[in-house]
Amino acid sequence: MNGCGFFLPISDDDRMIRAMNANEKAAALRLRKGGIPICALTAYDFPTARLLDQAGIDVLLVGDSLGMVVLGFPDTTHVTLAHMRHHTAAVARARPDALILADLPIHSYDTPEQALASARQLMEEGADAVKLEGGSEQWEKIHAITTAGIAVIGHIGMLPQRVNELGGYRKQGRTKEAATTLIEDARALENAGVCAIVLESIIPAVAVEITAAVAIPTIGIGCGESTCDGEVAVVTDLLGSFPWFVPPFAKPEVDLASQIVAAAHAYRRRVQGEVSEASKSQAPNV
Ligand code: KIV
Repeated sequence: MNGCGFFLPISDDDRMIRAMNANEKAAALRLRKGGIPICALTAYDFPTARLLDQAGIDVLLVGDSLGMVVLGFPDTTHVTLAHMRHHTAAVARARPDALILADLPIHSYDTPEQALASARQLMEEGADAVKLEGGSEQWEKIHAITTAGIAVIGHIGMLPQRVNELGGYRKQGRTKEAATTLIEDARALENAGVCAIVLESIIPAVAVEITAAVAIPTIGIGCGESTCDGEVAVVTDLLGSFPWFVPPFAKPEVDLASQIVAAAHAYRRRVQGEVSEASKSQAPNV
């Protein structure tokens, strides 16, 4: 693997010798500030993790977006620590070179003690680092986790776990005051010890300002092109496999949803013979 990956092309034997541990991966990520852009994608299962790692993706985010695109909930507020443990373990079984970043779900980090205990559980499942949402108000929780030796990535801007309070998925940083608060939040997170910050749905000019204000990498989603030190995307947005909700900034590379339906139709024709589509569409599926 190569491209955005942490490694030069090397043999499988070399990979086993040179594979990094969690903290080495986090340190390598931190060093990517201003360098080759960081490529991050969400992954929620073993085969996807293997394939994305083969493509040289730097960070596999076991995002709590799995609540929507895998588990069928309306938003991420239904995701539990048990869900996150289950999917983090599946991704970790792929033993990727990429850094495995696991989201702390809502209400798994209400206090510094709970934040550390939850982070430890995700690390036990094979995460290399954890991510939590929020700015300076999360300082103590992040500090508790980082001083225990666990790498943390912050997340500011549009916070999906607060979608109900925010009244929907809206662009952040529209006013001077909002932009100033976001920059202060980014500096507070850096001071608390995070190794990178996800910026979600922030006005591009403000994302550029935040990126310039901190010495750690920023990883953008919905912040415009080349405004951050890297980008993260939800894998189903890239693959076109979740057609029921597609954010405006999504750039699908394939239309997997249509391909899945076409493959299932072809299979049905193979199993059932040349029964007409019209008569089948009137019959129950069983
Ligand atoms: O859960 C997720 O997929 C995320 C991305 C939107 C960054 O946090």
